[in-house]
Amino acid sequence: MAALINEMMMFVVSASLLVSGGGAWTQQQQDPQVPCLFIFGDSLVDNGNNNGLLTLARANYMPYGVDFPQGVTGRFTNGRTFVDALALLLGFRSYIPPFAMVAGQSMLRGVNFASGAAGIRDETGNNLGEHIPMTQQVANFASSASQLRRFLRGNNSLNGYLSKCIFYSGMGSNDYLNNYFMPNYYSTSSVYTPKAYATALLQDYSRQLTELYRLGARKVVVTGIGQIGCIPYELARYNGNDGNNPCNESINNAIVLFNSGLRKVVDNFNKGQLPGAKFVYLDTYHSTKDLAQHASSYGFEVIDRGCCGVGRNNGQVTCLPLQQPCNDRRKYLFWDAFHPTEVANILLAKKAYSSKSKSDAYPLNIQQLARL
Ligand SMILES: *[C@@H]1O[C@H](CO)[C@@H](O)[C@H](O)[C@H]1NC(C)=O
Ligand SMILES: *[C@@H]1O[C@H](CO)[C@@H](O)[C@H](O)[C@H]1NC(C)=O
Repeated sequence: MAALINEMMMFVVSASLLVSGGGAWTQQQQDPQVPCLFIFGDSLVDNGNNNGLLTLARANYMPYGVDFPQGVTGRFTNGRTFVDALALLLGFRSYIPPFAMVAGQSMLRGVNFASGAAGIRDETGNNLGEHIPMTQQVANFASSASQLRRFLRGNNSLNGYLSKCIFYSGMGSNDYLNNYFMPNYYSTSSVYTPKAYATALLQDYSRQLTELYRLGARKVVVTGIGQIGCIPYELARYNGNDGNNPCNESINNAIVLFNSGLRKVVDNFNKGQLPGAKFVYLDTYHSTKDLAQHASSYGFEVIDRGCCGVGRNNGQVTCLPLQQPCNDRRKYLFWDAFHPTEVANILLAKKAYSSKSKSDAYPLNIQQLARL
């Protein structure tokens, strides 16, 4: 985090030093690497779209946002989310606004459509209340794009513009957490084996991503699901006593099926199924596992409990209004029972942006995708 803050401060300093010089070069330094960033997803990247909904999946109260300059916004972490950090790395000077609070020309830089508790399946997250599922997020993009047409004159220029933008989609965690592994509320686990469920999810998701392509997306980043068998929420529910591995491996195994299928979907899209498109698969499972396995080298001291929360591992429910969080957030991998801290989000964004390892970003990283 310190490094990113330093980068930002240096940016501000060098930008103001350059102002007196003026000229095209200054301008170039300030332009983001892509004209816009559109975001689809769940609470890992939601930045306020659930604030006006009737749902328990809301984070527009303290201490959420305790380390965010603007304070409480609806972000489900103490500071910046993964996509906030990514936007900075891509050279955007401010964060991508939530769909619920943006209109008109300002949508040209991109829009964040993400909604806490949302999933690929419409019913996912119903246990928590209202939310905006992926199908509706894509429909919201379609309506935004048709408004943008006015500012870009004609369909061709809209398509040309959108083809340069980055589309980020992180979906699926809730289709497990708030669906498949919640058998008292959802029947999916009695209808599908884990393998059949992953296949059904990927069919729906492929359709949704293909619709984004039809609407103009060409540079698309999709994120696999993290190691959710190891989040504090699952550790708090864990009934076993395997001291060496406290994670819930039946959950992790189900996630691996989804992730490996998603990687194949990306391969097929790139091999000509969606001509002219380039998809990147982020292996969040690998990246989150790496953060936990090499915790101390990243400066983490606590990886099995939330910085804020209640019950065993601070993992039984999310951080409650006005609850006192831990003091040193930088030492925690998890902010609450489900969501990484800001510092973890920044590390994950850096890997996605510039890692040379195909087990972080495949077949390209986001920096390379931006340059295409
Ligand atoms: C622009 O695209 C929309 C939706 O794809 C279509 O309905 C409309 O006819 C197009 N307009 C022009 C001028 O091509
Ligand atoms: C792992 O999670 C599943 C689904 O929630 C649960 O049925 C199972 O009991 C958990 N395993 C252990 C060892 O806690």
